[in-house]
Amino acid sequence: MLFEKSDELLERELKVSPLAAQTYSKSYRYFCKGMAPSYMDHGEGCYIFDVDGNKFIDFICALGPVTVGYNEPAVNKAVIDQVNKFASGTLQSELEVRLAERLCEIIPCAEMVRFVKNGGDATTAAIRLARAYTGRDIVLMSGYHGMHDWSIGASTNNKGVPKAVCELTINFTYNDLEDLENKLKANEVAAVILEPIQSNGPKEGYLEGVKELAHKYGAILIFDEVVSGFHYALGGAQEMFGVSPDLVAFGKGLGNGYPISAVAGRKDLLEQIEKGVFISTTFGGDSIAMAAALATLDILSRPGFYDHITKIGTMMRDGIQERIDKYDLNDVLSVSGLPAHCGVAFEGHGSLSYLDIQSVYSQTMLQSGILIFAIYFLNSSHTEKEAQAYLDATDKAFFLIRKAIDHDSLEGILIGGKVDPVFKRNIK
Ligand SMILES: Cc1ncc(COP(=O)(O)O)c(C=O)c1O
Repeated sequence: MLFEKSDELLERELKVSPLAAQTYSKSYRYFCKGMAPSYMDHGEGCYIFDVDGNKFIDFICALGPVTVGYNEPAVNKAVIDQVNKFASGTLQSELEVRLAERLCEIIPCAEMVRFVKNGGDATTAAIRLARAYTGRDIVLMSGYHGMHDWSIGASTNNKGVPKAVCELTINFTYNDLEDLENKLKANEVAAVILEPIQSNGPKEGYLEGVKELAHKYGAILIFDEVVSGFHYALGGAQEMFGVSPDLVAFGKGLGNGYPISAVAGRKDLLEQIEKGVFISTTFGGDSIAMAAALATLDILSRPGFYDHITKIGTMMRDGIQERIDKYDLNDVLSVSGLPAHCGVAFEGHGSLSYLDIQSVYSQTMLQSGILIFAIYFLNSSHTEKEAQAYLDATDKAFFLIRKAIDHDSLEGILIGGKVDPVFKRNIK
């Protein structure tokens, strides 16, 4: 495969835009260097055509937003119809009423909804509502919740966030109720926010326990369903596990790639927006994204939608484990995720770092015509055919990883440059 045009564009963009991508995880540094396209011409279902005319099966789905496939006719039609009317207007669109009503129907905890644009806007809005309601400042979080100060301040990527802000957010460990309770006891907590599905999902009773503890200590429970929302079940993880939070943040999967996010939940919490809790953005009512979201929800609501995703995902998840066993790689590779959103986790071995091993994986998947980092996203147009292509490529990648480990070297195996994410894990 040749990437002449991609490479030329990348060189030009690097001169004028840092990392040559507006989302960290879309940067060229997340792929095996020299082996990947950087620029997309168009998409069709679960396929991507790059600017050099190469075709790939896409298991990244724009980092989650593309839930019903690229260039989906019903979504296109809804968008084009609205484009011919207006985008952001002086007055609200009727679509806003319909979308809010629809979300209140399908999301268990939603009594009211407020629309914003990015996932981080929605989680930030939820935190502000919780702080205003409780009159407390401290936030306990588990997972990634976006770029805003309250959240990124508590991560290792907190350069530029004032220390005083960093100190108001404390991380807790997923699937560990004791850790949560200790932190709730030791602090006056406004909100407990977590991604309800992390790694291989919640332990039996974990989410129920989080809710009970949050309420016992007077905190608001927020589910960050920016990733889990619309990928596993129509009503999100809260429907799947039968535990409703007080507030929820949605983003990514709602508009099939059109930018829209929402905070939803208890009426008494959302109503604070009418009483001085400031949550407002110019493009919050963007009617194009709302048209896309309504058309997307129609497709997501079709009978069998999530059965299909789960079936394809189960085939892939089981197939990964079979191949880990086949190549005796359980000490370096593991399956991470539930069927709808799952993949491979890498560990270092001998003198090879986890990124060395991930680079071999990335290179092989790209050479096999598959775009993926480590964890796949699915949309409704992935079928058994694409799942099988993924597994065939995975087999080749694991074969080469076995070889690299046996030789304790990448020589003759890694042709491209190493995967070099901006944020690296703090282990070998
Ligand atoms: C769980 C979770 N919450 C929030 C966000 C932030 O969303 P956005 O990047 O749209 O602001 C992300 C983004 O990846 C996410 O994965």
